[in-house]
Parts: sequence; C-alpha cells; structure tokens
Amino acid sequence: MTSSPTTNDWWTSAVVYQVYPRSFADSNADGIGDIRGIIDHLDHLAALGVDALWISPWYPSPMADGGYDVSDYCDINPDFGTLADADALVSQAHALGLRVIIDLVPNHSSQEHPWFKDALAAAPGSMERDRYIFRDGQGDNGEFPPNNWPSVFGGSAWQRVTEPNGTPGQWYLHFFDVSQPDWNWESPDVLEEFDRVLRFWFDRGVDGFRIDVANSMVKESGLPDLPDDAAIGELVGDSPMWDQPGLAPIQRRWRAIADDYADTPQGPRMFVAEAYLPHDRLVRYLEPDRLHTSFNFEFLISAWKASSLRTTITESLAAHESVGASATWVLGNHDNFRPVSRYGKEISGLDFSNPSAPHAQFHGTPTDVARGRLRARAAVMLELALPGGAYIYQGEELGLPEVEDLPDEALHDPTWERSGHTDRGRDGCRVPLPWSGCAAPYGWSANANTWLPMPNNWAEWTVESEQQDSTSFLALYRTLLAERRANPALGAGTMTWNESGDEVLDFSREPGFRCIVNFGGEDVAVDATTVIASSVTLSTHGTTALVGRDQAVWLRA
Ligand code: NOJ
Ligand code: CA
Repeated sequence: MTSSPTTNDWWTSAVVYQVYPRSFADSNADGIGDIRGIIDHLDHLAALGVDALWISPWYPSPMADGGYDVSDYCDINPDFGTLADADALVSQAHALGLRVIIDLVPNHSSQEHPWFKDALAAAPGSMERDRYIFRDGQGDNGEFPPNNWPSVFGGSAWQRVTEPNGTPGQWYLHFFDVSQPDWNWESPDVLEEFDRVLRFWFDRGVDGFRIDVANSMVKESGLPDLPDDAAIGELVGDSPMWDQPGLAPIQRRWRAIADDYADTPQGPRMFVAEAYLPHDRLVRYLEPDRLHTSFNFEFLISAWKASSLRTTITESLAAHESVGASATWVLGNHDNFRPVSRYGKEISGLDFSNPSAPHAQFHGTPTDVARGRLRARAAVMLELALPGGAYIYQGEELGLPEVEDLPDEALHDPTWERSGHTDRGRDGCRVPLPWSGCAAPYGWSANANTWLPMPNNWAEWTVESEQQDSTSFLALYRTLLAERRANPALGAGTMTWNESGDEVLDFSREPGFRCIVNFGGEDVAVDATTVIASSVTLSTHGTTALVGRDQAVWLRA
C-alpha cells in the first residue's frame, strides 16, 4: 500500500474520504449515523482503496450547523457514540491501513460551550467576555451593531445580548449562525485551550485535523467597517474579516505541536486547511513551517470546460510549487452541490468570489442528470490523475446526485432560515448514504425516520447494487484507486501537458502514464491496447478506441 501508517508525508499523495457522520451509517436504528456505523462499514472504505478518512465534527453539539457548532471539543456527541467508540474507530481504521483526520472548528464555538455561558454571565470587560468578541453597540443606547459586517449565513454578524441584570447589553460577533459565537484569538486562554484540544486528540491517535474556515479566526484590529457597498462576495480579497496576517503565528504554533509527534510510531501529524481563497493567498498557509496541505477548491468551482480547468490546474501546481507544497484536488463536500448535479447544470462553474453560499446559484435551475453523470465520471479520472492528494466526499463513489426536492419542512441547514427562505442551503448533499435494498431507507432502519428523508429512486445507487455492476460509479472508483496505488506515476509528483485541441486536456506523467479528457464534439482516437481505464466503455474499431465528448481515458504511454 502506498501510504501505510508508517510512511511520513503520506498527505502529499493521499486520497482522503470525507465521512459526514450523521449520514454515513446508523448502528442503533435511530435514523442518525454514528461512529459504530462507520466502524461497521470500514470494509467499504478499505475495498474502495482510499488512504484516509476525514470525519466531519463528531463533538457534543446542539447541531445548529451540522456539528460545526461545538459545545465540547474533547468529547463525542452522544448521538454518535462515546470516546471509547472514537478510540475503537481510530485503531480499527489504522489496522486496515487507513489514517484518520478529524475536524477542528477554531473560528467559533456553540453558544452552549461552557465558556460562552460564562461570558454571558460575566460583566463587560471581564476576562470571560474577552475569550469571545464582545463590543458595545453604536448609537445613543448601543442599539446598533458595532460595525456593518454581515454573517455568512445571512443578516448581521452581530447579536445583542441581555445582560445578567436584564438590560439590553453588548453585542457578540458571529460570522456564521447566531448560535456560533466567534472566539477571540487574541485571548491567551483561547490559544492555550486549542493547544490542549490538539494534543488531546493526537494523544488518542488521530493523524491530523481539517481546520474549519482556516482563513477566519483572526480579525483586523479595531474591527473596521467594510466599505458601504461591499457584498460578502467581495470579502475574499483584502478584508478586515478574512485572511489576516495574525493567522501565521497560530499556524506555526500548531505545526510545532504536530511535529512534536514525529517520534511516535505514526510519525508527525498533519493539517489540511479549509479556506476559500485564491491560489496566491492560499499557498502562503503552506509555507514549510505552517500547514501541510489545504483543500484546493479551484477544481470544484471550475466550470466543466477544458480552458478553465487547464488554467486552474496549471496555476494550482505553480502556486503550490512556489512554497514546496503538494496540491490537493476536491470535487465536492458537505457544503457544495454534488458533482453529478453540478455538471448537469447549464452553468456548472461557481462564483469564487462568493464564499458564503456557493450552492445557492444552483437551486431551482434545470439539471441534465445523464450529462452530469458522464462528466462526473470523467472528472474523477482527471482528479485522480493529477499530481498531489485528492478528496472524495461520501456518496461521490456512488455517483449520488444532489437531492434537489427535499420538502421545506425537512430542511436543517441554518442558511434556509437566516436567508428568509431564499437559499435552500446544503441539505441536498447531506442525505444519508444508501447501502442496500430497493426502497428508502436503503439499509437504514425502517423503525425510525432518517434525519433527512431519502429519495424513492435511489435503488440503483446503493452500495449493494453498485457492487454487482461492473459499469457502476463504484466499480470505476475502485478501478481508479487500485491503479493509483499500483502505478508509480500517480500521486505526488509532476505532469506535462501534451499538445491538444482547445477542447481536450491531455497530459503525461512519468513513468509511462497519460490522461486524456475530451470536452468537445470531436472524438479523440487512442491506441486501444494501451488503455488502463476509461470513464465509460469506449467505442473501439480494431486497435483504435474513440474518446467522445465528456469522456476520459488513462493510458500506458
Ligand atoms: C465550513 C463548514 O464546512 C461548514 O459546513 C460550516 O457551516 C462552516 N464552515 C462554519 O463552521
Ligand atoms: Ca444511530
């Protein structure tokens, strides 16, 4: 195996599978996925051929934002299990050669976190309040928010509190939901507490952390207003809210903690940053003494277009090379419209300048699912052939579409309420994974409703059904991942573009590997005897195979 738990730098080429625990698998028939459910299905991940799993937050949480509202960073949500279950998961995953990455949510806690309750009970100016970002309001009676910053989920980023004596009081900052108060990263208590959290989980054997909104946390001092007309979409450039210089020392501090584990049998631990930033800004986080890797969302946001993807790939690789880091490639996650549906939209690219609601533009527009499926198959062939690591969000290996018709009353994403019911949010990519059977709930218990309803037309897309079909998404993913492990040209390294028409991507990697993706109407002829894998069965004439529109092929060169 290319990345056994003893290989240092495994993250430079790892394929990481994202588990959204609530929707992965349910062991106790309550309709909510849990850790025992993950353990019971580790064989699916081992057979798939990934190197690691990243588990979205599993901490105690009121679940106002799918667990990205943490009330205790060093425990497990009872819906998901216990610390003993988490330990069992880590050790059983390791026994199968799978690394485990968990989610760190350092920009904000839940309002249920004991320190936030302490802050509410304490006086303005106290050290308890200083752990969060409390300010007096503007106006004669402090009735207006301290500045004009918007929340990513809609509305103002400030919420006024009632002081312990019953009077209207200070305001606290929340970049996301009102129940997710932002930590103050200038407070030494906060810095030390997160050091403790990192060590707590590293000591239990986790291999790394995905850092939630890693470009947030530190705010420009003085909290200056945004220019009057700045939409949240303009906040990825110079902004007092995001990507502040003060992040660097925190990242270095965390890197030193991860490096402290270099002498353990597992080797040093790693970080992957979640930050929707342009390349030049993003790769600063990957300087040698800072973070190891970062999601590279530029693949995800690119339209299904050869020119756009070519530019994205070339620029991504150059930017990462400039700091000596390995790139990663991402097609989807629990915040984004699923690739099968996205690539079936008339406009498949995302507006990168809108970090708040990248999914919003897709709701309510027609989807050509057949075309989306074809493209998603070609897209993963491209993704897994590129230099660096890759992320697979649960369900992508089954080709699941976005569930675009969830009933209003089933929606959980806070975006739905905070947008005044204008943005349906991200629940459509979080529907439970179909395991088996011909009708909903597909292997989940029929005794409890799954936390999000499952569609009635998913019988063909269950793990059980796809395992028996050599043309399924699952069969394609397994073939590609097995090849990726066996083929020394794949994973970290370099690539060279070959001459090709405008609507074709064609590149080589050494030794002896070539990938071709056709976006246009003119077939590309290849030598059929050199085909390693193709996104669909290619039409073949003698020793010539034709790669058609929205199809991809891997070749021995
Ligand atoms: C990014 C997470 O992926 C998303 O699900 C969450 O809502 C925000 N960060 C806030 O934590
Ligand atoms: Ca359960």
